[in-house]
Amino acid sequence: MSDPYANLGAAAQDIQIAIADAMDARSIDPAQVTMRRAYMSGISLPRGAFAVEMGSGTGHVTRDLITVAGASRALGIEPAALMVERAHQHHADEPALSFEVGDAKACGLESGSVDMVLMHTLLCHVPGPDAVMTEAFRILKPGGVLAVFDGDYDTATVAIGDFDPLEPVVKYMIDANVHNLWLPRQLVPLAAAAGFTTGEVQAHGYLASGEAAYFMSVIDRALTKMQADGLLTPAGADGLREEARTRIAENRFFGFMSYTSMLATKPA
Ligand SMILES: C[S@@+](CC[C@H](N)C(=O)[O-])C[C@H]1O[C@@H](n2cnc3c(N)ncnc32)[C@H](O)[C@@H]1O
Repeated sequence: MSDPYANLGAAAQDIQIAIADAMDARSIDPAQVTMRRAYMSGISLPRGAFAVEMGSGTGHVTRDLITVAGASRALGIEPAALMVERAHQHHADEPALSFEVGDAKACGLESGSVDMVLMHTLLCHVPGPDAVMTEAFRILKPGGVLAVFDGDYDTATVAIGDFDPLEPVVKYMIDANVHNLWLPRQLVPLAAAAGFTTGEVQAHGYLASGEAAYFMSVIDRALTKMQADGLLTPAGADGLREEARTRIAENRFFGFMSYTSMLATKPA
């Protein structure tokens, strides 16, 4: 399975821009905001806490570390320079936020220097997620908090009936963009193996609403790729794009997937 997110900085510029746009669109989707609040707002951090998001993309979720989780300072670590540049542009108004190019497997922060580590839709894209867990464990202070949130992409569906032609379009995109489909179902033993004490695990149902911006971006990117891969003619891709848009216009579009969150702590 190829996954451009696993080495985003090496992807073609137009693909990186499309992915950055999709991250921006997803971050303001009200249902996505609700899910982030659901798993982050109960976290209790010490005064003056320093939090790190690994795999911060365009930085919107890193900002939640301050506004929702209550950290005083937050750093986003992200290997793709284009994403870091966009994060700087979006969040220049918040001096407590910073972003750096770096790798979650070897981030360069001091051992025991961080109060909270967040991985929001990162781990399913990373070959060798155990190395990311080990690095998070290393940089956290004793008693520090780990929060992980990832898509359970096998549950993603847009079908409104048997043999719905939009369904394989979504499956195609997931197959081409998610390195480990089963990661959310493997999280607890993964964290425990790195030494964490695992806490609350929650499922979050995500139902597309309104313009369904996230599912539309998935469908559009899938159709572009299916066309590039020789599976669809331009007319075929346009027809399916039109089908999705018509369902939105007629209020017949359905899009659902489940996400999983897990909280854990480094033993004191
Ligand atoms: C799906 S995006 C999520 C971005 C952001 N957390 C959000 O939800 O908007 C996954 C991000 O993880 C980054 N990533 C992939 N491998 C990484 C690694 N080894 N270390 C740090 N980040 C990585 C990708 O470049 C990408 O920006």
